[in-house]
Amino acid sequence: MKIKYLGHAGFYIEDGDFKALIDPFLSGNPKAKASVDEFDDINYIFVTHGHGDHLGDTVEIAKKTSASVIANFEISLYLGEQNVTTHPMHIGGRTKFDFGTVKMTTALHGSGIQTPNGIIYGGNPCGFIIERNGKKIYHAGDTGLTLDMKLLEDENIDLAILPIGGNFTMDVDDAVRAVDFIKPKKVVPIHYGTFPVIEASPEAFKNKVINAEVIILKVNGEYTL
Ligand code: NI
Ligand code: MN
Repeated sequence: MKIKYLGHAGFYIEDGDFKALIDPFLSGNPKAKASVDEFDDINYIFVTHGHGDHLGDTVEIAKKTSASVIANFEISLYLGEQNVTTHPMHIGGRTKFDFGTVKMTTALHGSGIQTPNGIIYGGNPCGFIIERNGKKIYHAGDTGLTLDMKLLEDENIDLAILPIGGNFTMDVDDAVRAVDFIKPKKVVPIHYGTFPVIEASPEAFKNKVINAEVIILKVNGEYTL
């Protein structure tokens, strides 16, 4: 499974026929190096919550690729009104798809959808556990440190993707505690450095984490799991 970091919380995942995006925030992302034009063949888009830096370019990419968006029920309703194909899920649910299984996990955050006409209720924010061919990825979404993460230890996560930027989410020290709760084999830090308010050091995170391999991905950097 090839994982490409698109900056902020965004990823492109490719494994054979499975081509997916998570939180594709490209337009308006000062650190993004990829553009919407590059994604013409996408099967699924995972959206962790309704904030603009996660929902991002989902509507445009979903429409042009006919990708199915996996998101919570409320965001799915919002996207459905815009003729986007969706698969609604909700917190704690696990579902089998043609590519593998997905579990929607808790996240401690907000999920309002910003529109020109005001904020629309976006349900609960979430994270995703995506399992394919015996490999498990956990994308935490935006979240504070939560004891719920202790439950994830039983999932035997191969790769955890965790925010470290603080202010809106866990900072470096809380993300280190999250790694201790989750006990993944590998960790990728995200959601830092995009804006001044979430400046953080991935190297400091790497130095503080024990018992997991920290993989620092540059924007557009790739890792094969
Ligand atoms: Ni957010
Ligand atoms: Mn965010």
